[in-house]
Amino acid sequence: MSNVPAVEPMPPGVVSLEDHAAHAHARLDDNAWSYFSGGAADEITMRANRTAWDAITLSTRVLRNLVGGHTRVNFLGTTLAHPILLAPVAFQRMAHPDGEIATAFAAAMQGAGMVLSTQATTPLEDVARIVLNEPGRGPLWFQLYLQHDRGFTRELVRRAEEAGYEALVVTVDAPSSGARDRERRAGFQLPPGIAAVNLAGLPPAQAIELHPYQSRMFDALLTTAPTWADIEWLQGITRLPVLLKGIMHEDDARLAVDAGAGGIIVSNHGGRTLDTMPATAVVLPRIRDAVGAGVPVLVDGGIRRGTDVLKAIALGADAVLVGRPYLFGLANAGAMGVSHVIRLLRDELEIAMALCGCATLADANSDVLFK
Ligand code: FNR
Ligand code: LAC
Repeated sequence: MSNVPAVEPMPPGVVSLEDHAAHAHARLDDNAWSYFSGGAADEITMRANRTAWDAITLSTRVLRNLVGGHTRVNFLGTTLAHPILLAPVAFQRMAHPDGEIATAFAAAMQGAGMVLSTQATTPLEDVARIVLNEPGRGPLWFQLYLQHDRGFTRELVRRAEEAGYEALVVTVDAPSSGARDRERRAGFQLPPGIAAVNLAGLPPAQAIELHPYQSRMFDALLTTAPTWADIEWLQGITRLPVLLKGIMHEDDARLAVDAGAGGIIVSNHGGRTLDTMPATAVVLPRIRDAVGAGVPVLVDGGIRRGTDVLKAIALGADAVLVGRPYLFGLANAGAMGVSHVIRLLRDELEIAMALCGCATLADANSDVLFK
């Protein structure tokens, strides 16, 4: 295959996801770093995501027979080799020229699920070809931002279906961007040649002339923002399962299930939308309680260690997503770096399972959490 990314050496001394972040900080320019690493406003939620996982302690169990153990999980009708997926992250060619192609290649090689962002810098069909060709691959999902032009949105969904994507992840927590102070301080701009190519041809939103006493938010932006009715509309035009990403309230979780969602992703967008939202580790058990067993629930935000993955499963998640860490792996060593990040996390998960006496993730219930 000509478009298989080149193998790059891993930087020496990088043995953890935080090492990848530190190394990427040194490699990326201030512009890209401000976009990829930043959160909203004072970044309180972004930090809280991390500290909440750190604050949970694990309970070890000894001398159990764990022969035949594995990290497999079942949901949405498939078996995953392990419960780690790559969260949708926009503009990946700003981190590395191979961008989403490298990410897709690494995800497929490592059996990790891949969720392609609506704002990818690579045609969605090219990404699908990379993933679908790999026999050991994980699931391939398309993250959808419902666009102001519903006709365009419908066409985007049709393209994703035709290309072989297996679910739609509708991100519902960002009708407005957060207050991205770090980006504004850095004067963040997309570099030339970096664009959301799958949105090419999107007709511009109708210009709304605002009087000085009107709100750019309520009188313009939110006039085309999606609502629950659009989730219903979407399900009417697609045969794919629809997962909702960015659910942080029990009532919204119940509404999502009532609206026919195939799954829920507990997420605060990595702390990039509303600052001072709670950490996802804190909200996850409430959402699991609200929807009961049987509804796929995933979580992201601040997952940096295999122990975090085990904690998430013990708190009721079926699987987890990681965002920034693989992006930093991508910046550091292209496909090799992304691959390394997934492998590190999976190896650490196996260590954590073994030392907590869990042969399978079905054994990782609340007993592994030290009380
Ligand atoms: C994101 N995220 C995101 N989410 C989404 O639904 N569509 C998108 O295009 C993006 N783009 C994006 C860019 C960057 C630079 C970041 C850091 C994040 C959110 C992402 O999917 C995920 O929810 C968080 O990144 C998870 O938190 P961690 O793992 O980064 O802490
Ligand atoms: C972000 C958008 C693209 O977090 O979701 O930057």
